[in-house]
Amino acid sequence: MSYPKVITKRMEDHPTDSHTIERYEATGGYVQAKAAVAKTRDELVETVKESGLLGRGGAAFSTGLKWSFLAPARPAYLVVNGDESEPGTFKDRQLLERDPHQMLEGVIITAIANEVHHAFVYIRGEYPKPARRLQDAVDEAYVKGYFGKGIFGSEYDLELTVHLGGGAYICGEETALINSLEGQRGEPRLKPPYFPAAKGLYMMPTIVNNVETMANIPHIFEMGVDAYRALGHGDDTGTFMTSLSGHVNKPGNYELPHGITWRELIYDVGGGVPGDRELKMWIPGGASAPWFNPDDHLDLPITKGDTGQAGSMLGSGAVVVMDDTTCVVRAAERVVRFFSHESCGQCTPCREGTTWLEMILRRIEDGQGRPIDADLLLDVSDNISVGLAWPPRQTTICPLGPSAVSPITSIMRHFNDEVMAHITEGACPLAKTEVHA
Ligand SMILES: Cc1cc2nc3c(=O)[nH]c(=O)nc-3n(C[C@H](O)[C@H](O)[C@H](O)COP(=O)(O)O)c2cc1C
Ligand code: SF4
Repeated sequence: MSYPKVITKRMEDHPTDSHTIERYEATGGYVQAKAAVAKTRDELVETVKESGLLGRGGAAFSTGLKWSFLAPARPAYLVVNGDESEPGTFKDRQLLERDPHQMLEGVIITAIANEVHHAFVYIRGEYPKPARRLQDAVDEAYVKGYFGKGIFGSEYDLELTVHLGGGAYICGEETALINSLEGQRGEPRLKPPYFPAAKGLYMMPTIVNNVETMANIPHIFEMGVDAYRALGHGDDTGTFMTSLSGHVNKPGNYELPHGITWRELIYDVGGGVPGDRELKMWIPGGASAPWFNPDDHLDLPITKGDTGQAGSMLGSGAVVVMDDTTCVVRAAERVVRFFSHESCGQCTPCREGTTWLEMILRRIEDGQGRPIDADLLLDVSDNISVGLAWPPRQTTICPLGPSAVSPITSIMRHFNDEVMAHITEGACPLAKTEVHA
């Protein structure tokens, strides 16, 4: 089955040079940015609002609405979030490496729409090639006069700085990212008052948007709001990128229309699980998302609303598929270990709680679990995210703490028997099966 391509079309049609300015301009590039300098701020913001574009960085917040919240104080800044450290997520990397000008055109339009004269792109430090490609693209665009003084021969000045992060997951959280960009420790700030649109970079109004969000902007203006909306499904407009990994025959990045089902994604797009194994569960939106299972979720449409109602989220766009050889305790321990390692340590429930969750899971996995451990896992989780509800409540400054609770509630709700079998049998029950060996 083939789906319409928008933000990956150029790289698919021109795999060898989609990253160059020559190819970009030969395929309609920078036309919308040139046109934007003559438009009013209201016009640009309204168009993006009407397009229904939801941010692709994790929270799926309306991009146009975010822009309209920008406080009036100036200077204002734009920060593009290319930190992309959520496990299983690798879509922004491809957009930066294979079509950097597309994102830069989005940056120019966004800057004009928000009266920004200095934009920053913050890239994950472990992405040297995408960073190099982006810097080359920025240099090419400066030479052409698309950045710098009087862009496109107008009176509008726009500077752009590319910044490489040091490799901490927490620096993807927008306020930690801003701290890091300022040269401070990458620790989240309290919201309120530090909503970036009010008090962001250097305490000035700041728009933070994801790389994929930026890549969509030129297309909204090029194809028009109606055509853009029609690509999606209801309130989930346009296409979305997903990084599909784990136990599928065809892992990779895919651009897809909202509204296809999980069954279509895993079996048609991903080619199903290898061999004659069975699908056991999948993480629908990055490591922070509660897991889905085939009995309840396979035929749900992939939209923000449907996924939210079913108790999870599309998050960072990463889908990790696990087949029936996967031990749920081991999988949960691996995810929790990541969050425990990446906790910045400011909040006690997160710093202590993630460490305890990791230790309890480890001993269950090692066959040393105690009957009380199942309740203990839920009790510690409840201290991090009261009531274990969805969307999660926070006792912490940022959502990283509650993210570590997602694997716990997932295994306790859907695979309680398997967890208990580890405890009663003193070993992983799958270890006895042929497939696991
Ligand atoms: C712990 C944590 C890590 C995050 N990592 C990223 C990231 O790597 N990239 C990203 O775009 N957003 C990330 N986010 C979301 C950002 O805080 C922010 O919502 C997003 O960049 C806004 O862009 P958007 O509106 O275009 O989605 C993270 C959030 C949290 C809580
Ligand atoms: S929840 Fe965790 S990562 Fe977030 S601010 Fe608190 S300690 Fe840091």
